[in-house]
Amino acid sequence: MHLLAPLLLAPLACAARIPYEQYILAPSSRDLIPVGVHQINGSVTNAKALTRPSGGSTTFNGISSVTYDFGKNVAGLVSLEVGSSSSSSAFLGVTFSESSLYISSDASDATADAGLDAPLWFAIGQGAGKYTPEEKYQRGAFRYLTIVSNTTASVSLHSLHVQFLAAPKQDLRAYTGWFHSDDELINKIWYAGAYTNQLCTINPTSGNALVHLGSIGSGDNITLPQTVTWWNNYTITNGSSTITDGAKRDRLVWPGDMSIALESIAVSTGDLYSIRMALESLFALQQSNGRLPYAGKPFYDVESYTYHLHSLIGMSYLYRFSGDQTWLAKYWDQYVRGVEWALSSVDGTGLANITASADWLRFGMGGHNIEANAILYFVLQDAQSLAQQLNHTSTATKWNQIAARIKTAANNLLWDDQASLYRDNETTTLHPQDGNSWAIKANLTTSTTQSIAISQALQSRWGPYGAPAPEAGTTISPFIGGFELQAHYLASQPKAALDLIRLQWGFMLQDPRMTQSSFIEGYSTDGRLHYAPYSNDARISHAHGWSTGPTSALSMYAAGIQLTGPGGAEWRIAPQPGNLSTIDAGLSTSRGQFAVQFQGKNGKYETFSFQTPSSTRGDVVLPGTRGTLVSRTGQRVPLVNNVARGLSGGSWKLERAGQ
Ligand SMILES: *[C@@H]1O[C@H](CO)[C@@H](O)[C@H](O)[C@H]1NC(C)=O
Ligand SMILES: *[C@@H]1O[C@H](CO)[C@@H](O)[C@H](O)[C@H]1NC(C)=O
Ligand SMILES: *[C@@H]1O[C@H](CO)[C@@H](O)[C@H](O)[C@H]1NC(C)=O
Ligand SMILES: *[C@@H]1O[C@H](CO)[C@@H](O)[C@H](O)[C@H]1NC(C)=O
Ligand SMILES: *[C@@H]1O[C@H](CO)[C@@H](O)[C@H](O)[C@H]1NC(C)=O
Ligand SMILES: *[C@@H]1O[C@H](CO)[C@@H](O)[C@H](O)[C@H]1NC(C)=O
Ligand SMILES: *[C@@H]1O[C@H](CO)[C@@H](O)[C@H](O)[C@H]1NC(C)=O
Ligand SMILES: *[C@@H]1O[C@H](CO)[C@@H](O)[C@H](O)[C@H]1NC(C)=O
Ligand SMILES: *[C@@H]1O[C@H](CO)[C@@H](O)[C@H](O)[C@H]1NC(C)=O
Ligand SMILES: *[C@@H]1O[C@H](CO)[C@@H](O)[C@H](O)[C@H]1NC(C)=O
Repeated sequence: MHLLAPLLLAPLACAARIPYEQYILAPSSRDLIPVGVHQINGSVTNAKALTRPSGGSTTFNGISSVTYDFGKNVAGLVSLEVGSSSSSSAFLGVTFSESSLYISSDASDATADAGLDAPLWFAIGQGAGKYTPEEKYQRGAFRYLTIVSNTTASVSLHSLHVQFLAAPKQDLRAYTGWFHSDDELINKIWYAGAYTNQLCTINPTSGNALVHLGSIGSGDNITLPQTVTWWNNYTITNGSSTITDGAKRDRLVWPGDMSIALESIAVSTGDLYSIRMALESLFALQQSNGRLPYAGKPFYDVESYTYHLHSLIGMSYLYRFSGDQTWLAKYWDQYVRGVEWALSSVDGTGLANITASADWLRFGMGGHNIEANAILYFVLQDAQSLAQQLNHTSTATKWNQIAARIKTAANNLLWDDQASLYRDNETTTLHPQDGNSWAIKANLTTSTTQSIAISQALQSRWGPYGAPAPEAGTTISPFIGGFELQAHYLASQPKAALDLIRLQWGFMLQDPRMTQSSFIEGYSTDGRLHYAPYSNDARISHAHGWSTGPTSALSMYAAGIQLTGPGGAEWRIAPQPGNLSTIDAGLSTSRGQFAVQFQGKNGKYETFSFQTPSSTRGDVVLPGTRGTLVSRTGQRVPLVNNVARGLSGGSWKLERAGQ
């Protein structure tokens, strides 16, 4: 083990520097060129020239192609600088692919339910100069770009540039949060999650125009590659930046996806503006009965009980990080009407009876579904806390009583003691990953013993590629897996959470069919890049914000930086390092920076320190630790039963008992 003290102090010693910047995958310039040549077909001279900033020219001699590699998933608008062409009828085409599986000179990977996306064609026989398509032909994500010459002409190219258009309002590498541990894979996963969300953050004018939604059915058995047209020019939100579900597709605001993406963004880039624009677009679509949409515009209106609830979660999460009470108050009436709409499904059993099937593309969402009821219970806890903060005490009391009945009924009707898991509903033996993870997250469980039993039962189902979601067939859902990670931590099983991150996200980061930089939306339990809800594997998105759960889980639970009051006005520092022996992590809110550093082994801290903004207060929880927390200003607060309460914001460190 190497000495870590200098590293641990680095972010404090030099505030202007971005801590651990070497792990950040976002480019330092928005002007990109490829880093390598992946493949050459036909006769091409000096293909490598286009990978050098001032590299001379590449010549395509007749029908030929070169596939360039950007080294990681990127996004943006391509430009070709043509030197000369021997024929006025010469063309160059450009195709894109996130995965190496769909590299082709005939087509890009897919954004529609069937077929493959057509190449962008440039009539470069018109003469020398720079060729750039209209902005709506920006590609939301690709690692591989293939240039195709489809005529017998000889064509020389001076340059290939991509203008990086993702995260349009961000200074791309100015992260306000960081995470570092002694496990390199875990570190890389944290940063790949942060970068995935940057790719999914877009200029709202370049949203999904739903070009082929409904026009090519997934059951049409189209023989690939049929190529289909594509473009991105629908304005999906107000403002100048918004988060969406996926970079290549769907490029829409999806509230479910946000329940993972939002916290991972808040702890890394801190781009709360793009989150707010997305949430406001959902609240703009609220129906007169209080129902919120399944997705933002231009998606057609569908009722989804769970996604309705996710919009309400988004509101409370954003408030937790922004602390913007004026904004909360502005949307409070809409929030209350949203809660009331959800409560209108609660029947005589005490549980909500779900009649809308739309969810995250799992099946069997009807009846007294455990996932929906656990999420409702979670929302009611949030809602009570928000109501208290706005002094709506009687509303909070009413919600408290309904929540208590949900908890009792769910445990009476849906708990399966033999399996140590909740059943999906009363008429099935299926034990879902989503409902069981959410039951722990929502505190629907009645004891720590029960939560640990669920955590163990979920672990016993893991396969070689990760945690299955039987409620969606033979699927691994990195979305629901993100909630499972939180569940293991909340059941105080940090080793299980780390093992699942290494297994599932390690596979997603390292497999050669992936981008090695961003996280895929779903795949199969046998490791195939097939996502059961889709018939067209080329459509799967390799940069999906809902797959970034480890980023927030590591900051909030492994490092243990938890904001319990608006903007971090109150906090709890409660690390669960598992078998990590060092952690240095931080995040920022409008109140300032929150940071934690420690080293130790097997739950015994050798050093432990943290910093919180001066206008705040909070508690520290260090299981198995005895000692006193000492502030830089000389305050001393002993740990009593491993807890120190009511500490004021500042710089603190642990003085272990016996030192
Ligand atoms: C290049 O040729 C190989 C072998 O025929 C083929 O598998 C590959 O798809 C081609 N690459 C492109 C970009 O067309
Ligand atoms: C090359 O592709 C362009 C654009 O699709 C097409 O118009 C042209 O006919 C093609 N040329 C040949 C020789 O196939
Ligand atoms: C598509 O193919 C499947 C399997 O061959 C077949 O069952 C189905 O009827 C076909 N669908 C259409 C629309 O042709
Ligand atoms: C988007 O692009 C399509 C295809 O070129 C065009 O028909 C449509 O009018 C454009 N929409 C907007 C809002 O610009
Ligand atoms: C955009 O802002 C206007 C004015 O505040 C508002 O009426 C509208 O609902 C907003 N639309 C979206 C999609 O957020
Ligand atoms: C109950 O759950 C099972 C398993 O998910 C599902 O097949 C069934 O459709 C569900 N019942 C209802 C009414 O949705
Ligand atoms: C849920 O409501 C539907 C529609 O009213 C009804 O048919 C169904 O029996 C209810 N399910 C349960 C479990 O009560
Ligand atoms: C709620 O009540 C407390 C105590 O009276 C007061 O300090 C606080 O400003 C109130 N908050 C709001 C949002 O009205
Ligand atoms: C979870 O619920 C139990 C009662 O079942 C309660 O004692 C405990 O305080 C709750 N935990 C949290 C974090 O609210
Ligand atoms: C933690 O445990 C895993 C196995 O569960 C092991 O692969 C890893 O090397 C361990 N990490 C450290 C830092 O000890």
